[in-house]
Amino acid sequence: MKKTIFFLLLLSSVTVGTSMITDTEAEIVRGKKLFDAECKRCHKTTDEKSIGPGLKGASERAPSKDWLYQFVRNSKVVINSGDVYANELFVKYKKKKMPAFPKLSNADIDAIFTYVNSENK
Ligand code: HEC
Repeated sequence: MKKTIFFLLLLSSVTVGTSMITDTEAEIVRGKKLFDAECKRCHKTTDEKSIGPGLKGASERAPSKDWLYQFVRNSKVVINSGDVYANELFVKYKKKKMPAFPKLSNADIDAIFTYVNSENK
């Protein structure tokens, strides 16, 4: 009897487990929503240029994670601080300023790049 209950419990946990989506999948879905709403009009997920650079590999070429968070939340502050990489991009993209996204949290920005990177696998 005990064995049967144990087996049933095991079985139900396995079926629940497989029907749930993983944390990464949920993050990708959330990231895509944010990307489509806020970034898509200027960026592609590939390395193809649009109004701004293609975001393929952008999370790796950013000088640091903090740089990425700050740049997305307010690129102007990073550019005006004299940051070399930000200024090179700014000049290369014809001094078009990216809008600030002060409402995006670090977790939101992580989700966006989890999505972008998942498109480049
Ligand atoms: C109105 C156009 C516009 C929108 C919308 C926009 N960007 Fe940008 N983005 C740019 C431009 C232009 C650059 C190049 C740097 C500059 O000119 O300031 C850039 C640069 C970047 C970079 C640096 C890329 C690299 O090659 O290192 C990142 C990262 C980035 N954007 C992320 C985002 C994210 C994430 C969003 C959405 C939340 C977003 N951008 C929305 C125009 C935009």
